[in-house]
Amino acid sequence: MKIFLDTANIDEIKKAMDYGVIDGVTTNPSLIAREGKEFIPLVKEILSLVPGPVSVEVTATNFEDMIAEAEKYAKIADNVVIKVPINLEGLRVVKTLSEKNIKTNVTLIFSASQAVLAAKAGATYVSPFVGRIDDISGDGMELVDDIKRIFDNYAYDTEIIVASVRHPLHFVQSMLLSADIATIPFSTLGKLLKHPLTDIGMEKFLSDWEKVKK
Ligand code: E4P
Repeated sequence: MKIFLDTANIDEIKKAMDYGVIDGVTTNPSLIAREGKEFIPLVKEILSLVPGPVSVEVTATNFEDMIAEAEKYAKIADNVVIKVPINLEGLRVVKTLSEKNIKTNVTLIFSASQAVLAAKAGATYVSPFVGRIDDISGDGMELVDDIKRIFDNYAYDTEIIVASVRHPLHFVQSMLLSADIATIPFSTLGKLLKHPLTDIGMEKFLSDWEKVKK
């Protein structure tokens, strides 16, 4: 499974790239706003740092303006993926961009039917938001399971990005369900590595090493 970093923070991206485990980046308007930087220069910097796909979301709400935004971002670099919200205008945008060979990530997916329509319109990726479903007492991973089975049943080649990942279990379950990608925040990336027995074991090895005559 590929791992994307869900952030617009340059330091986090640089650190995660150095760990050698990051295949791409996803951003959204909230993550961009958190950085307090000018939008286009920030996006350009992210795109130049990351060799893999970088999702950049359109913020217009009508077809013409979304297409204009998408075409502007697509010119910045080859690895841009245009993030488009799932709605009727969004589907038109996905169809148009797919005909122009511009990659799309259809976002805010909360049902299997939304994912199927996005795939039919030509989406490169769909992003089911598992954490936000869990937040309202649903089962986000069940949605990923449904989408995966439907895409396999009908041989859609749209890839599933498990998004709104909150903890290591989401990450492991994503792989058990054969999701294509999980996009995770930097803080969760650290949690994937953490185990108390590793810390205790390391402490013991180091304290025993102190006793060795050198
Ligand atoms: C990624 O594509 C999404 O924008 C992101 O994972 C949403 O995560 P959140 O629900 O933690 O905001």
